[in-house]
Amino acid sequence: MQQRKILVTSALPYANGPIHIGHLVEYIQTDIWVRFQKMQGHQCYYCCADDTHGTPIMLRAEKEGMTPEQLIDRVWHEHKADFDGFLVDFDNYYSTNSPETRHYAEDIYRKLRDGGLIEARSIEQYYDPQKEMFLPDRFIKGECPKCHAKDQYGDSCEACGTTYQPTDLIEPFSAVSGAAPERRESVHYFFQLDKCADFLSGWIQPPRVQAESGNKLREWLESGLTDWDISRDAPYFGFEIPDAPGKYFYVWLDAPIGYMGSFRNLCDREGIDFDSFWDKEKAAEAGTELYHFIGKDILYFHALFWPAELKSAGYRTPSAVFAHGFLTVNGQKMSKSRGTFITASSYLKHLKPEYLRYYFAAKLGGGIEDIDLSLEDFVARVNADLIGKYVNIASRSAGFIAKRFDKQLAEVGGEAIVEQVQQGAAEIAELYEAREYGKALRKIMALADEVNLYTDGKKPWEMAKQEGKDAELQQVCSVLINCFRLLTIYLQPIMPELAQGVAKFLNVEPFKWSDAETLLPAGHQINKYKHLTTRIDPKQIEALLADNAVNMEAAGDSHSQARHPEKQQHEAEANTVIEPIMETIGIEDFTKIDLRVARIVKAGPVEGADKLVQLTLDIGSETRNVFAGIKAAYKPEDLEGRLTVMVANLAPRKMRFGVSEGMVLAAGPGGGELYILNPDSGAQPGMRVK
Ligand code: MSP
Ligand code: ZN
Repeated sequence: MQQRKILVTSALPYANGPIHIGHLVEYIQTDIWVRFQKMQGHQCYYCCADDTHGTPIMLRAEKEGMTPEQLIDRVWHEHKADFDGFLVDFDNYYSTNSPETRHYAEDIYRKLRDGGLIEARSIEQYYDPQKEMFLPDRFIKGECPKCHAKDQYGDSCEACGTTYQPTDLIEPFSAVSGAAPERRESVHYFFQLDKCADFLSGWIQPPRVQAESGNKLREWLESGLTDWDISRDAPYFGFEIPDAPGKYFYVWLDAPIGYMGSFRNLCDREGIDFDSFWDKEKAAEAGTELYHFIGKDILYFHALFWPAELKSAGYRTPSAVFAHGFLTVNGQKMSKSRGTFITASSYLKHLKPEYLRYYFAAKLGGGIEDIDLSLEDFVARVNADLIGKYVNIASRSAGFIAKRFDKQLAEVGGEAIVEQVQQGAAEIAELYEAREYGKALRKIMALADEVNLYTDGKKPWEMAKQEGKDAELQQVCSVLINCFRLLTIYLQPIMPELAQGVAKFLNVEPFKWSDAETLLPAGHQINKYKHLTTRIDPKQIEALLADNAVNMEAAGDSHSQARHPEKQQHEAEANTVIEPIMETIGIEDFTKIDLRVARIVKAGPVEGADKLVQLTLDIGSETRNVFAGIKAAYKPEDLEGRLTVMVANLAPRKMRFGVSEGMVLAAGPGGGELYILNPDSGAQPGMRVK
């Protein structure tokens, strides 16, 4: 077989939040593919890095009282430990805040500029005069122009769902400092993607993109490619643009270039020829391949911007972009309040990494459908298939070989079941290559079923009790050990640590794929069998959920839709908005707010407003009617009877549905993640909070 030369990447996780099990879908999917390629004997490099630039990281570092460099260094170590824990085996895990990435970012930018693809023009944007910085839309808040809900983000209202421009907000303020933002002009740099439309429409074809991605991409292309704003003004944490003081590359400009940076760093360390992978001519000559594994939410960046940049700057373009879907848990978006926003590190405290690798593999295909982690199914599948079918084969046979036959195997050549398992290798390999891991596992488990049927027919445990059956018992058990070895080879990309344990137990070298062509010979001596893995106890799952339900300071919920970059840009910048503390006030400012304990005597839906709940609040001396944007977080009927806290002297506001006479207090980013306040027991309606 011809040895392939392959460079593989996964998307670079943001350096402002922990790795969670949603991310892991991607890193596990990629790692399985890379391990499979390496088992085939191909030269395959797996590179990744932390995505370290941008406004949220800058602000978060400030809030934590450190420099951005200190923050990203800490997060790098956390991410690396998580990936190691899940056996994700990068050849290089680097950072975009590196000299290599800066070099290629400047290089690509200069080539685009010299090629006439960069335009500078002045645009008007919100500016925070106190913080002296331009504000991304998500960092501007104000009153919704439609329903007049307070404290809404610059792009959409969470109370009534309207989307708008930040300029439409009533009394806008900066979420960074609280100051009233001003409109200011500034020069931005734009990449004229439209000039690459012809190239792109030819490029976005299978096998470079999956069929479903192709449809989406063609839609975007047909609706017209808008210029891409690639610059941000100081202060910004990132790379300054050459010959443009005070202007920085927008984080998404240097992020994919981080793939090159990480690989360059590996090349310099290990003496690999970088150009044979990235230079257009040399790559074609060397026949090197380049694959990017990504989530479907960042398709626009990887299948339009990225190939256009590479092509225009004279580099090779990707061999393919493999997108995957999003993870849901028990059929729903991961949620902090349900405890299903499971971080990588918390998972590892309770369960083995290979269980999740196995389960994700069982669910993954080559397409972009979302995948669901059903926790009940997770326990059932690991216990029934992995332990019940596969591990069972070894535990039914190894003991006899050790105790009765001095750990020696008998000849097994020509046995039909062994041949059947052996013949599965080619089909399983094709399925791995096509990222159809679910189908590969089904095939592997079907073979395990056959082996178990064979065992049930032979009944070695009965042979062991009968006189004169020794030779037959040794032969049957040797067949089982050989089948177990073959199945382990097939499972190794998914379960590398388990496979390593099996190789030790079988007293052989680590497995390559071609090992499936041979069998363990007569007389081969194995080692003593130690149990390889244990069943999952459902209690472990309960403990994991409980752990995550309390541990809520994790990153913002991830997004579940394919998004246009304009939207994604906000998401990227919003990733974790930890609101800064507002400016200092005196006690006289605070006492102007009349806060009262209130009993929710009635709560009901509001016709025509999906997000609102109508509350009747008893504050002792009177009752108030309040419309609250908490429908996504609470069922109205669950609220009735509860005590909470309201602002009792807020000016009444006329809304489409009636007058709102105050406001209840709640914490959280909004949507389903809102938590209303609860006074301690004993408090009575009408008591003042001070
Ligand atoms: N920093 C960008 C990627 C830059 S690549 C040059 C980014 N980071 S991310 O941390 O938000 O996401 C990293 C990867 O994890 C993305 O491919 C994203 O699609 C994937 N996932 C994040 N949440 C996910 C799920 N809930 N489910 C599946 N994949 C998820 O985007
Ligand atoms: Zn509104």
